[in-house]
Amino acid sequence: MEALANDPMLPRRYRVLRTWSELSDVRTMELQPVDGSTVSFQPGQFNMLYAFGVGEVAISISGDAADESKIVHTTRSVGAVSKALNSVADGDVIGVRGPFGTAWPVVEEKGRHVVFVAGGLGLAPLRPAIYHVLNNRQDYAGMTLVYGARSPQDLLYPYELQAWKARFDTNVQVTVDHAAPGWSGQVGVVTTSLDRALAGVDGAEVSAFVCGPEIMMRFTVSSLKALGVTEDRIWVSMERNMKCAIGFCGHCQFGPDFICRDGPVFRHDKVSRLIVKREI
Ligand SMILES: Cc1cc2nc3c(=O)[nH]c(=O)nc-3n(C[C@H](O)[C@H](O)[C@H](O)COP(=O)(O)OP(=O)(O)OC[C@H]3O[C@@H](n4cnc5c(N)ncnc54)[C@H](O)[C@@H]3O)c2cc1C
Ligand code: FES
Repeated sequence: MEALANDPMLPRRYRVLRTWSELSDVRTMELQPVDGSTVSFQPGQFNMLYAFGVGEVAISISGDAADESKIVHTTRSVGAVSKALNSVADGDVIGVRGPFGTAWPVVEEKGRHVVFVAGGLGLAPLRPAIYHVLNNRQDYAGMTLVYGARSPQDLLYPYELQAWKARFDTNVQVTVDHAAPGWSGQVGVVTTSLDRALAGVDGAEVSAFVCGPEIMMRFTVSSLKALGVTEDRIWVSMERNMKCAIGFCGHCQFGPDFICRDGPVFRHDKVSRLIVKREI
């Protein structure tokens, strides 16, 4: 019976505590194990969420790892499973397998100037690492977040961006590709805001964590390197279709690696030659 309970292929039942809309096609949900146990994960890891009768997809954990009472997921509706997950109501039960995958090495990079660069929904997988640095800010030399979205209406977690911006010990830069009436912030790609945010910062002191569309990650890494950040201090998070999530089925193969087992967080120098140009 215990062997069955520890089977990584067997979804466990989690209750939806609360769910709410973030953007027109994006919702966040808070989940708690039905059996009353606590939750534990590392920033950057993902779960396989199972909408009963529809299917299972990989979704990053986007809450605070210091809170063991619940897990948080933010999901964009793109197909059958994500739409089903975004249709659940408070009190519903879904299946969860995980957590799986590698983590952002925020603990290992203590003492450094930590730079987060996020594009679009890429802020969700980075948020647990951001929480960790904010909760332990005295352990880091600096913290910068550069976040870009298509338009002001596409900015994820705007309520938290405001709160993080208001802190005196963080540098938060938010930019959009296309402004809208009422937007008085930056307009342009994240790399321009990144150059501005890191002016005067010694690149050798920086550890960077990057998440977003692959084309955005490639340009961001080029900018970071031009600012003097070494490739062994840059991490990116990769996405591919998942099935087993335990390095068994081969669905998520990425060169010699499996993203579910060896990623999703990779040190950039290990994957740079594999990051393809398909999104151009
Ligand atoms: C490690 C990992 C972490 C992830 N974390 C998150 C997360 O936190 N939040 C989240 O919303 N998604 C996340 N994803 C992506 C999510 O797993 C996919 O979007 C999933 O395939 C959706 O399944 P579906 O059945 O709803 O749609 P599918 O039937 O798989 O896809 C429907 C259509 O949408 C397109 N599509 C699929 N995924 C994407 C995408 N990511 N962007 C744009 N178009 C897409 C497909 O090409 C297809 O045309 C993550 C993926 C991985 C591998
Ligand atoms: S999803 Fe099966 S090997 Fe990664």
